[in-house]
Amino acid sequence: MTFAITQSCCNDAHCVSVCPVNCIHPTPDEPDFGRTEMLYIDPRSCIDCGACASACPVDAIFPIDKLTAPLAHFAERNRAHYEGRPADPAWAPSRFARSLPTSFAGLRVAIIGTGPAACYTAQTVLRTTEAHVTMIDRERVAGGLVRYGVAPDHPSTKRVGETFAWLFHHPRLSLRLGTEVGADVTLAELRRSHHAVIAAVGAPDDRRLGIPGESLPGSLSAGDFSRWVNGHPDATAPDLAVERAVVVGNGNVALDVARLLVSDPETLPSELDPQVRAALQASRVREVVVLGRRGPEHAAYTWAELEALRHLPGVGLVVDDTPGVAETIAAAGPAGALHGVEREHIDWDAAPDARRIVLRFGSTPQEILGATRVVGVRLHGVAGRDLAAGLVVTSIGRVGRELRGMPFDEDAGRVPRQEGRVIDPETTAPVPGLYVVGWAKRGPTGGIGANRFDAEETVDALLDDALAGVLEAPTSAPSRRRGMMAGWAAATKTTTA
Ligand SMILES: Cc1cc2nc3c(=O)[nH]c(=O)nc-3n(C[C@H](O)[C@H](O)[C@H](O)COP(=O)(O)OP(=O)(O)OC[C@H]3O[C@@H](n4cnc5c(N)ncnc54)[C@H](O)[C@@H]3O)c2cc1C
Ligand SMILES: NC(=O)c1ccc[n+]([C@@H]2O[C@H](COP(=O)([O-])OP(=O)(O)OC[C@H]3O[C@@H](n4cnc5c(N)ncnc54)[C@H](OP(=O)(O)O)[C@@H]3O)[C@@H](O)[C@H]2O)c1
Ligand code: SF4
Ligand code: SF4
Repeated sequence: MTFAITQSCCNDAHCVSVCPVNCIHPTPDEPDFGRTEMLYIDPRSCIDCGACASACPVDAIFPIDKLTAPLAHFAERNRAHYEGRPADPAWAPSRFARSLPTSFAGLRVAIIGTGPAACYTAQTVLRTTEAHVTMIDRERVAGGLVRYGVAPDHPSTKRVGETFAWLFHHPRLSLRLGTEVGADVTLAELRRSHHAVIAAVGAPDDRRLGIPGESLPGSLSAGDFSRWVNGHPDATAPDLAVERAVVVGNGNVALDVARLLVSDPETLPSELDPQVRAALQASRVREVVVLGRRGPEHAAYTWAELEALRHLPGVGLVVDDTPGVAETIAAAGPAGALHGVEREHIDWDAAPDARRIVLRFGSTPQEILGATRVVGVRLHGVAGRDLAAGLVVTSIGRVGRELRGMPFDEDAGRVPRQEGRVIDPETTAPVPGLYVVGWAKRGPTGGIGANRFDAEETVDALLDDALAGVLEAPTSAPSRRRGMMAGWAAATKTTTA
């Protein structure tokens, strides 16, 4: 018997280091790391010790005989990854072995953000130095997108937030929530009171289509939807008294939105916000059409998230049989993830007789229709055929936002940098004491775990600079103006630094 890794794997590789027989791959030192959707256990070598399952922060690892219906196929998925590969590959050397001498005990580091990138960065700084760390977030609850992005029907993924919570008990860490850098405190103030400031501010804005009708009631972004479904106090509930919704975009977030809109609310976890549950119970949405602007071979969603749609209780999954789709799915390649999914020439005038998700490829909206609220979508290149729909959710990714005082690359939508050091865009020279990590650094792609190794790269640069004497000593003490604790930080010490 062996263990297998399943859907919620976020690629943080915690399991790799505890496996006594090196049978979890790709490891962070292997070229495939970051290119595969998840990590896989080699059933030929696994000795069934269970150490990986205990180490996994998102409960993604199970003995294969305990895998129930929606996850059972992951046993085969793990096995198939190793087909044609050698068993027992060599151990790779350990990656991050840096630390600072204790003479650097007075180092003060500010981290803007409390999302995964910020938390992995704080963990690495606290483990490798004697520094004092201040974490600042404009939200009143820590966690970034783990709290207000990750879908509430993925409770095991959300649990990664609990593994970060130890940070907030750390004696060398202060947490300031409800504090926006650029409004409540300036970047210049932070720089004056810390040796180093690390921006882990993510990519806060939703990309928009820029087409007519996008601001009508009934049209919203995936970010707005995610905040609402995760119980954000400032979010507005969408009007769900409509039969058909359209989701624009073909990434994992688009699938999250589609799934949540048609899932039976009774199957959603008990942690779901009660008002959200009531709204979903009252919802009349029966069909969600997911529009991909390119073909299924270019879809940005992952196999695991697509598989989850195939196993949604009481919800059908159908591909709209537009010209060329069948051939693309039949050909070898990434579209093969849709093998076995029903295809149908959808009659858009007929009401569906059961709840379903329709995947339509090669389609993008030209206009969102309606006078006072959304009534439909006009598609590019489909003459005379408007799609009636009362709700349109645009899920085409996110983009970074300029933080006053921090260089920003408008075209790339992120902070200009060399590895983790922020650079002056004119001279390309590093700005001493300024660093960046996570989606603010790489752009808005990659799951939670990708931020762990990114954080190590940024901290590595900071430690090099500390040793090289590049960091300027603070000229003032950290401000004690504002801050509060809430969410999974609530049970920890109260800090209003
Ligand atoms: C809807 C959605 C669902 C996702 N689901 C999954 C999933 O199931 N599994 C998975 O592996 N990955 C998932 N991801 C990806 C994952 O969430 C990201 O990889 C990760 O959150 C990026 O981390 P980050 O710390 O860079 O940014 P964020 O998580 O966005 O954190 C940035 C933080 O900075 C704060 N901030 C921004 N500006 C300021 C300011 N001026 N002052 C103070 N604070 C500020 C924000 O409030 C926020 O808390 C999802 C992403 C989205 C959008
Ligand atoms: N379960 C999970 O592990 C999970 C869950 C949620 C999110 N995430 C991760 O979080 C990251 C962000 O996810 P995401 O879904 O927001 O972004 P994403 O993966 O970048 O997908 C964006 C989608 O929007 C489409 N798009 C972009 N501009 C468009 C336009 N103008 N018109 C129509 N379509 C357009 C893209 O199509 P093109 O390809 O044609 O550009 C793509 O299909 C990803 O790395 C994702 O894997 C992971
Ligand atoms: S989430 Fe991390 S620990 Fe869990 S299986 Fe994936 S890589 Fe391993
Ligand atoms: S059960 Fe043990 S041997 Fe098998 S993958 Fe997990 S840690 Fe490795």
